[in-house]
Amino acid sequence: MHEVYIIDHPLIQHKLTHIRDKETSTKLFKELLEEVSMLMAYEITRNLDLMEVPVETPLMQTTGKVLGGKKLAVVPILRAGLGMVQGIESLIPNLRIGHIGMYRDHDTLEPIVYYCKLPPDMDQREVIVVDPMLATGGSAAAAVNHIKEQGAKRIKFMALVAAPEGIAEFRRIHTDVPIYTAAVDEKLSEQGYILPGLGDAGDRIFGTR
Ligand code: PRP
Ligand code: URA
Repeated sequence: MHEVYIIDHPLIQHKLTHIRDKETSTKLFKELLEEVSMLMAYEITRNLDLMEVPVETPLMQTTGKVLGGKKLAVVPILRAGLGMVQGIESLIPNLRIGHIGMYRDHDTLEPIVYYCKLPPDMDQREVIVVDPMLATGGSAAAAVNHIKEQGAKRIKFMALVAAPEGIAEFRRIHTDVPIYTAAVDEKLSEQGYILPGLGDAGDRIFGTR
């Protein structure tokens, strides 16, 4: 069973408080989410594979280490996940970026994949699926199911804020996928919002509220 990692670096917690604030503008919300995503990515990528390469310094030949293997794939869940990509990309420019779009069927409430475009060779890449909100866990669990069906084997899930209910549901289905989040909040509201949360992440990123 994989763990839930709470990334509680003071800078992340500070920025998260401003992200939660209902008075925070769309522009600042987006900027802060990018910054937090970059800081979280730094922690999450700690165990990326390295390989040794020769390098010549101004003084002598030596051996250095660079990232090895296939390039990391980041897969945002549309639409709010898009708000986390640029921050990660500023840290790791040589990413491959997939996209997966989910909606909820009005009658069954089942999350449905309506769009998915992933990099090739997913079975050989480390994959980070990103979405700021892990609420009921339905979207994340379905997205990861689909990404696994495309061959991915080494997956991490990164959220900004998670509800205990969503964590439990996600872990029930995906015992092999660790969750990284900046906060585990109190609970879900009856409408499926995370409390205290930050509201509707997609609306706040794109100014559609
Ligand atoms: C939000 C959020 C997650 C989902 C979480 O997306 O970005 O994808 O809800 O909820 P769940 O854990 O209960 O599935 P939303 O459906 O609002 O779409 P959006 O990203 O287009 O705003
Ligand atoms: N999706 C959001 O954007 N916010 C929540 O609180 C729950 C789901």
